[in-house]
Amino acid sequence: MMTTFGLERDGDPDGEPRFRALIAPGRAWAAFDGTTMVATAASHTLRVGIPGGVLPMAGLTMVTVRPTHRRRGLLRELVALHLADASARGEPASALWASEATIYGRFGYGVAAEVDALELDTRGVTIAAAAVDALEWHDEASARPLLPAIYAVAIAGRPGALHRSSTWWRERGFLDASLMREGASRRRHVLARRGADATGYVVYRQLAGKTRIVELMAVDARAEATLWRFVTGIDLCPAAEWETAPVDSALPWLASDRRRVTRVRHDALWLRIGDVPAALTARQYASDGELVLGVDGTSWQLASRGGRATCTQVDAEPDVRVDRAALGSLYLGSVPASLLARAGQVSGAVESVAKADRLFAWPIAAWCAEQF
Ligand SMILES: CC(C)(COP(=O)(O)OP(=O)(O)OC[C@H]1O[C@@H](n2cnc3c(N)ncnc32)[C@H](O)[C@@H]1OP(=O)(O)O)[C@@H](O)C(=O)NCCC(=O)NCCS
Repeated sequence: MMTTFGLERDGDPDGEPRFRALIAPGRAWAAFDGTTMVATAASHTLRVGIPGGVLPMAGLTMVTVRPTHRRRGLLRELVALHLADASARGEPASALWASEATIYGRFGYGVAAEVDALELDTRGVTIAAAAVDALEWHDEASARPLLPAIYAVAIAGRPGALHRSSTWWRERGFLDASLMREGASRRRHVLARRGADATGYVVYRQLAGKTRIVELMAVDARAEATLWRFVTGIDLCPAAEWETAPVDSALPWLASDRRRVTRVRHDALWLRIGDVPAALTARQYASDGELVLGVDGTSWQLASRGGRATCTQVDAEPDVRVDRAALGSLYLGSVPASLLARAGQVSGAVESVAKADRLFAWPIAAWCAEQF
């Protein structure tokens, strides 16, 4: 896997025990040519935020095929194993981050959450804040017990967010292999605190005058402003960047000069809905309504009332037709059906598509802060 990703094992000497801890037994697959391993794939056992809840998901990861063995169907076989395993374990959906945007649509994955690669020229920028929290500097040892609880509050209610286990924190959250550093400093940890309560944190590295944000998490607006004020004031670092900022970051609205903030939007979390009724009844809905949804030729009557929905297979003409990938895009509530209709990925009468817009919409933007 490391070789195919263009990396070296010595950059990550503890990789093997780490993957053993992160990947449950039976959730990794490989293809062999004779006795040589030539392709890999694995599933993380994830819990991911959805509108009004959390859903067990299989996180497809570690997908590699040796350059000498490409385009022979190995990826296709590995994806089939991953999906059959997810279905057997009762996970209604699979999620992934894609190395290339052209690979996974054919397997029924659609982009459900995007991120902004954000850059900030901090020179002369001030951050508007009526009140700010206190700041605390932590080394890794003292940060370890504090960050998980702050993170859990900060991402509660956020569709697309990973609900991290303690193993995930230990093996990934605090991983500092040289591979992760890419020449930058160790991680720095700064917490925001209001009285007895920790209200947020920023974890960052430094490299050649740049603050590289690993993660900035805030439980509310005041903590977010506090942390951005801190980032704009780091001495000797006139620039900051964050590759996986939420699309609804308040930074441009807080900054005294919003043109110092640039954002480039990328696909982040791709979703594939495996079990349509299980997934559609697991999430909540912000408005009442009824719709016959055609997914890859099967019609589902979706009826939401008071936040909850029922979903039953029916023998009726669909109001709106989608393929599985488009359903994945709609699911977290951040990609409107009418937008996908303009791209030819959703079809139906204008008023039916508008109904689908209202039904699937969710007020909190989807965000997955971390690649897996
Ligand atoms: C991407 C990768 C896993 C593909 O593996 P593979 O075994 O060659 O893929 P398959 O032969 O099973 O191809 C399955 C389908 O995907 C298509 N496909 C494969 N790689 C593709 C790519 N990079 N871009 C677009 N389509 C691709 C194939 O054309 C085929 O399509 P078809 O079934 O419609 O004919 C492999 O190129 C690789 O290891 N790349 C480097 C690591 C990487 O990017 N991993 C993905 C991590 S998210």
